[in-house]
Amino acid sequence: MSILKEKLNEKILAERPRTERLNKEYGNVKVDEVTIGQIIGGMRDIKSLVTDISYLDPFEGIRFRGLTIPEVFEKIPKVAGSEMPSVEGFFYFLLTGDIPTEYEVAEVRSEFDKRREVPAYVFNILRAMPLDSHPMTMFATGIMSMQKDSIFAKDYHHGLKKGQYWEAYYEDAMNLLAKLPELAAFIYRLKYCEGVIIPGNPELDFGGNFAHMMGIPKPYDDVARMYFILHSDHESGNVSAHTGHLVASALSDMYYAISAMLNGLAGPLHGLANEEVLRWLHGVIDSMGGKVPTEDDMKKFVYDTLKTAVIPGFGHAVLRKTDPRYTAQREFCLKHLPDDKLFKYVDMLYKVVPPILLEQGKAKNPWPNVDAQSGVIQWYYGVKEYEFYTVLFGVGRALGVCSNIIWARALGYPLERPKSLTTKMLEDIAFGKK
Ligand code: MLT
Repeated sequence: MSILKEKLNEKILAERPRTERLNKEYGNVKVDEVTIGQIIGGMRDIKSLVTDISYLDPFEGIRFRGLTIPEVFEKIPKVAGSEMPSVEGFFYFLLTGDIPTEYEVAEVRSEFDKRREVPAYVFNILRAMPLDSHPMTMFATGIMSMQKDSIFAKDYHHGLKKGQYWEAYYEDAMNLLAKLPELAAFIYRLKYCEGVIIPGNPELDFGGNFAHMMGIPKPYDDVARMYFILHSDHESGNVSAHTGHLVASALSDMYYAISAMLNGLAGPLHGLANEEVLRWLHGVIDSMGGKVPTEDDMKKFVYDTLKTAVIPGFGHAVLRKTDPRYTAQREFCLKHLPDDKLFKYVDMLYKVVPPILLEQGKAKNPWPNVDAQSGVIQWYYGVKEYEFYTVLFGVGRALGVCSNIIWARALGYPLERPKSLTTKMLEDIAFGKK
């Protein structure tokens, strides 16, 4: 058994009694109340999910396993010669809650390495798709095509015991995650680089190999590591994480769950937003004649825009402050691309938009989210095909969703099945007839 799996096994055995006790002895304790507004309004804020992988505080932002983003960047071992932690070390941390040693990171790296080659039939399927298919469709299709190799699906039909489900999900997660950099880079090169594919380099880590297969030199390897880590998890209520969790709760295997997760991520109100922000930004630059505007010009532009539209990349369903994922990427930009025109526009919007939104009192959260900054970095390093940005988000999000699903099976969470009412029933409740 690998060190990671053994460590996970220990953690699971220690955690199970906590969940069992809560469920058995405290199952009737009330956590929350539900209003009609919440039922009609997308279940906003209803506390109804449990995860220990990450927690999103509205005023502080995300913590992964209790650590803020700067703490994660500081504590997880870095890849030699780079400023970012390895994705492998971060995944170990997400799964176990422990900071891995260099040795433990190397072991995850070698586990991924053994499993990283994407079968040739997947490439043939992708090559057979129309080249104008959205890269998210290709990404989800590539993953679905590998479902036949699911260890869980096979073992389940051979009498796998419930207590061991997580082990099969873990193996599927490792097999799938290890292949995502090659699958994503293949889609990019097939669609946008005349099909000239760059083979993977087994000497490189997850992020480094992805940058290599994309054909983009340093420091894009660090951009990739940072991007995958920042997008990995945002607790469990967002559409992609929740979709993955829901689908896996039916004991659909990891391939079904992660492909479904991607389909949720592909929506413009979720992962596609980073693409929309960049398209909008280029429109702003065009309308300002390509020059970096003065603060007053930008304010006027924002006031005019707000008469008929919203400013993309500002606001969030849960957050009530600047998204720390935005801040982390802004710091990267200040260090690596401070004079970039697109970054200057974004930074000026950061200065100008929140006070105007606050003054107008329309937005619950006037601060920028992760999407307001991420496309700028990709564009700067030559990934100019907006529609690919959500694929990058998907590679990252798979790390968090796989971790959550493994734990959900380990703790025996059941099939998710909330109850629905009719509109007439809600009216009866509202008008006091019930
Ligand atoms: C995410 O990372 O999933 C987005 O910020 C959306 C969310 O948290 O609801």
